[in-house]
Amino acid sequence: MVQVAVLGYGTVGSGVVKVIDTNHDRILEKTGVDLNVKYVLDLRDFPGDPIQEKVVHDYDVIVNDPEVQVVVEVMGGSEPARTFTARALEAGKSVCTSNKELVARHGTELIALARQNHASYLFEASCGGGIPIIRPLRTSLTADHIDEITGILNGTTNYILSKMIDEGLEFDSVLKDAQDRGYAERNPEADVEGHDACRKIAILSSLAYGKRVDFTDIYTEGITRITSADIRYAKAMNKTIKLLAYSSRQDDQVTAMVAPYLVSKEDPLSAVNGVFNAIFVHGNMLGDAMFYGQGAGSEATASAVVSDVIEEAQVIGRGVVSYWKPEKQVLADVSGTEKQFFVRVTGQHDASALESVFGPVEIVDAGIGGETGFVTARMSEAEYQKRAAQTEGIVSMIRVRG
Ligand code: HSE
Repeated sequence: MVQVAVLGYGTVGSGVVKVIDTNHDRILEKTGVDLNVKYVLDLRDFPGDPIQEKVVHDYDVIVNDPEVQVVVEVMGGSEPARTFTARALEAGKSVCTSNKELVARHGTELIALARQNHASYLFEASCGGGIPIIRPLRTSLTADHIDEITGILNGTTNYILSKMIDEGLEFDSVLKDAQDRGYAERNPEADVEGHDACRKIAILSSLAYGKRVDFTDIYTEGITRITSADIRYAKAMNKTIKLLAYSSRQDDQVTAMVAPYLVSKEDPLSAVNGVFNAIFVHGNMLGDAMFYGQGAGSEATASAVVSDVIEEAQVIGRGVVSYWKPEKQVLADVSGTEKQFFVRVTGQHDASALESVFGPVEIVDAGIGGETGFVTARMSEAEYQKRAAQTEGIVSMIRVRG
């Protein structure tokens, strides 16, 4: 029997206990792994919940118990999650987590610590919730040279954008609705400013390109400036708006960015709505592949966590090897990346007036008075910024995927 300790009995932690309870026999039959939750660490007590008899408040009980072989860290945040993870690994226990903040900040050192101690540090649930994406990148796509990852990696912002598009509502009212339904945190900053998606694309890019991508190097914009007028323009162009977390590799140059994009209806990412996530991967042999599913939620995320528990249980004493090198992947400046830009500018302008600054443009008529919306030709970010600086009254700009 493999004894497991769960750190944190919140949304994901309670899901982990439920997945192990519900699927214990199936897991045993399929994998030969006999899982038992021995402890749950939480500050709270849960009177009346069968878990109560397993609740401990002192981490030392877990880390000093030689029977515990796998620790599930689903507390979130950097501390004490980092210290608890390090202590478990130093004690030769494997750790798995859904904590993208910890993996993005300290994954490299924790992976090294796991290796030194012949243990594993796995984090399937840190990106895309229940969607298998880390394991495919780590074990299935090893024969490929991955050159692009584009993801809708944040369910909260995808829910908000989908609802703004479906119902023509403004960001603030949809955010409030999302908070009332529990789809958005009371402090939504990490989601709506793109930080959560940024950490996730840093993790995926580190795996795909083989060196540590520092999330603080990734240019990141959130969705707080998207308005119902932007949505009207998107509809007039037969496009939708998605918060995309993107990275690509050409030769040895890696670029990465998180920003809202206009996405054409023909693009499979345009059909990913609500709290769902999707990750598009391109490899030199594989071509295109897309991974789709529930990017958040108790049971879906816990399913991914427990898949890691099982893998760790199968290699106890050896540890799972692989991942990325500790050396930093220097990111190329996004100012050199090329794309089209959708721009709104105050006042009624005809194409020839705009073309004197931007070159060829396509005017978009969304029936909005007092301003002009247009799409530029393909140009670099630097070129766009140079031309935008020569233009009075720019209301907003959204990048166009493609
Ligand atoms: N806040 C995250 C999201 C939760 O909305 O996608 C899952 O990482």
